[in-house]
Amino acid sequence: MSGFLRHKDGYNVAVVGATGVVGQTMLEILAERDFPVADLVPLASSRSAGSRVEFKGKEYVVRDLASFDPAGIDIALFSAGGDTSREHAPRFAGAGCYVIDNSSAWRMDEDVALVVPEVNAHALEMAKANRIIANPNCSTIQMVVALKPLHDAVPVKRVVVSTYQAVSGAGGKAIEELADQTRKLLSGLKAEVHVLPARIAFNVIPHIDAFMDDGYTREERKMMDETRKIMEADIAVTATAVRVPVFYGHSEAVNLTFDGPMPAERARKILAGAEGICVVDDPLEDDYPLATEASGSDSVWVGRIRDDKSCPNSLHLWIVADNVRKGAALNAIQIAEILVRHPG
Ligand SMILES: NC(=O)c1ccc[n+]([C@@H]2O[C@H](COP(=O)([O-])OP(=O)(O)OC[C@H]3O[C@@H](n4cnc5c(N)ncnc54)[C@H](OP(=O)(O)O)[C@@H]3O)[C@@H](O)[C@H]2O)c1
Repeated sequence: MSGFLRHKDGYNVAVVGATGVVGQTMLEILAERDFPVADLVPLASSRSAGSRVEFKGKEYVVRDLASFDPAGIDIALFSAGGDTSREHAPRFAGAGCYVIDNSSAWRMDEDVALVVPEVNAHALEMAKANRIIANPNCSTIQMVVALKPLHDAVPVKRVVVSTYQAVSGAGGKAIEELADQTRKLLSGLKAEVHVLPARIAFNVIPHIDAFMDDGYTREERKMMDETRKIMEADIAVTATAVRVPVFYGHSEAVNLTFDGPMPAERARKILAGAEGICVVDDPLEDDYPLATEASGSDSVWVGRIRDDKSCPNSLHLWIVADNVRKGAALNAIQIAEILVRHPG
């Protein structure tokens, strides 16, 4: 995959939502991976315009997205919510820059590529026409990274997933809410609920994003629809999305049914050799993936790989990843790395 942007030593990169949880992590990962940045432009709303963010040891003034002219920007990494993307991404794409968007605004648009580089980098070809690329939902990304190599060996027919999602998936204010409620409850004070739909400290909430008429939440619907689009396969997917009192790292209990035999031992070997995956699966040594260990890492961690004895050709997996890195910022920057790749 190449031929997206004309070769240059450095590219002008706008980070939209640079003051947020994902935007801040994008700045860290651009620096860590030494992405070829010529000019960095951090953007946010008028609320934080004029504040400063740091990139590679240098301070940059945050500018107001609403009045920013995108002419000359090569790549814009958007993570500022769906409404902001719907309003401003077409303006950036129209000015000739590639937009990589973290919101759900464009994901299911049939003209927009929905990309996880380890799974369907080829779909990026579509972006040469409209210049908007969607980054999938965080829970979907980590699941399809594990699904793809197994599906290539024996097609997956059905996925049943239950998620255990960290509060960072709901942004900076949700992180503060878990910390604040925990402090208050441990001090014998009343915990207030402002951001998440119920008290999250010492609790588990089976409600992420809005409920729809069919009883599923939008988060669950995203996992079902996005998985099929990314995998380019008519896989039956059903999901239950749950928020847990964890700061960083989403965990998922995933049950897969295949079109033929996929014993646990074979799945373990396939996953151990797959791109972007670390298998940690020695339960007798108490070794399995944990959110505390996945947090801050770039891999998708898979363990508890075992045959489902209740159903033929079926397996259980436990999949954990840092939702802000592989689930958002890292995946977007891996896409940007393809956009600046040149043959030879
Ligand atoms: N957190 C995750 O794990 C995760 C994973 C996948 C996708 N996402 C998506 O990424 C986006 C951001 O998530 P987050 O967790 O970083 O949220 P966050 O911590 O709440 O940050 C939101 C960012 O968006 C900016 N923003 C909000 N409204 C804006 C507007 N009208 N114009 C310009 N900038 C605006 C904010 O700027 P101000 O400082 O000016 O308010 C802030 O920089 C959301 O669409 C979310 O669904 C998040």
